[in-house]
Amino acid sequence: MAGNSIGKEFIVTSFGESHGKVVGVVVDGCPAGLPLSEADFQEELDRRIPAERKIVSARIEKDNVKILSGVFNGFATGAPIAVMVENKETNSNDYEAIKDLPRPGHSDYPARIKYGGFNDYRGGGRFSGRITVALILAGVIAKKLLNRYNVDVLAYTIAIGNIKSTKKFTAEEIRKNRSQASTRCPDLSCAERMEEAIIAAKAAGDSVGGVVECIALNMPVGVGEPLFDALDADLAKAVFAIPAVKGVEFGAGFRAAELMGSQNNDAFLVEGGKVVTATENAGGVLGGLSNGMPIELRVAIKPTPSIAKEQRTVNLSAMENASITVKGRHDPCVVPKAVPAIEAVVAITLADHMIRSGVIPKVLKAH
Ligand SMILES: Cc1cc2nc3c(=O)[nH]c(=O)nc-3n(C[C@H](O)[C@H](O)[C@H](O)COP(=O)(O)O)c2cc1C
Repeated sequence: MAGNSIGKEFIVTSFGESHGKVVGVVVDGCPAGLPLSEADFQEELDRRIPAERKIVSARIEKDNVKILSGVFNGFATGAPIAVMVENKETNSNDYEAIKDLPRPGHSDYPARIKYGGFNDYRGGGRFSGRITVALILAGVIAKKLLNRYNVDVLAYTIAIGNIKSTKKFTAEEIRKNRSQASTRCPDLSCAERMEEAIIAAKAAGDSVGGVVECIALNMPVGVGEPLFDALDADLAKAVFAIPAVKGVEFGAGFRAAELMGSQNNDAFLVEGGKVVTATENAGGVLGGLSNGMPIELRVAIKPTPSIAKEQRTVNLSAMENASITVKGRHDPCVVPKAVPAIEAVVAITLADHMIRSGVIPKVLKAH
C-alpha cells in the first residue's frame, strides 16, 4: 500500500512535488462546522519563512493558499477539504547536472532504484522539504479544531549544532520570542549564537542540524489507542514523515534508561481537585495514553545533505566513483523551517486521536 495518507478519522493525504505544479493536502474527516478561510492558512505559511533570510534557502515562494473543496459559507462541510499552494519559484537546472550523481545524505539513490528512474528528482521531488508546506496546511485545520477544545500545540528550536538552550518558557513567551528569532528559539540569549552557527556553516560550504521541542498543553486524559496506535507511537510516526528527522524522544527519553525507577517515576498528586504529576519524565504519555500532563517530545534533525563542500559519490550511469559539489538553493539548516512542520504533524495526530476517542464530535456545535 502506498504511504501518502495518515490518520484513521482525520485522514490527511499529501500530494505534490518540489518542482511540480503544486503541493497540497486532502483532509478527509474534518468535523463539519469548523470555521475556515484562506486567511487562516496564509498566516501560518508566512510564519514558515524567517524574516531574517540569511539562514534559509534563496527559494522564497509567495505561497498563496487555495481552498478547492470542503468549505462552504466559511465553514467545513464534512466533505474532503482540498487545499494547496502553487510552486512558482522553481529552478530545475541545477538538478540536471547531478541527475546521475546521488547526493550523499539525500534520498536520490534509494528513490532512483525504487521508482526505476521515473521519480521526479527536481529539487528532491517528493522528498523535498517543500512537501512540509502541505503538512502545515493540514496542521492549520487540526490546530483550529484542537483550540476549540483548549489544546495548544507549540514547537520551537532548543538546539542548533552544539548550541543548546535549557531554559523553560511559558506558552506566551514561546510564541512571542520564537517569532523574533530567525532560528525559532525562544531563548533569545542563545538565538543569536545559533544564527551565527548557521551562517558560519554556510560560509564553510557545510550545514548544521539541531533539536526541536514540541509541547501540547491541556490534553484530556486517556487519548490514544493501544496497542499499535498508541499515542506516542502515532506521534513519532507522524514526525518521521518530515524529511531530515533522525530521532524522537518523549519526556526524559533516552535519559530514562540511565535513571532508577524511583528517579524516573512521576509521582501523582492532587492539585486543585485534579490529578497531576510532580515531575514530567513520561512526556505526558503512559501506556500509549495521554496522562493529562503536557505532552513533550523532542525531535533530532540532521544537517542538510546538500552542501557545497566536495563529497564522494558515484556516477550511476557509468557505474564509477565520482565527486559532487551541490549547487543550487539549499537551506544551510532545515531546523527553523521544520519547526512549524513538527507543530503541524503533532496537531494532525492529536486531532485524529481526539476524534477517535470521542472528545471531538463529527459535527461541531455553533460557537
Ligand atoms: C523544511 C525542510 C527543508 C529542507 N531543505 C533542504 C535543502 O534545502 N536541501 C537538502 O538537501 N535537504 C533539505 N531538507 C532535507 C531533505 O529533504 C532530506 O534530508 C532528504 O529528503 C532525505 O530524507 P531523510 O533525511 O529523512 O533521510 C529539508 C528538510 C526540511 C524538513
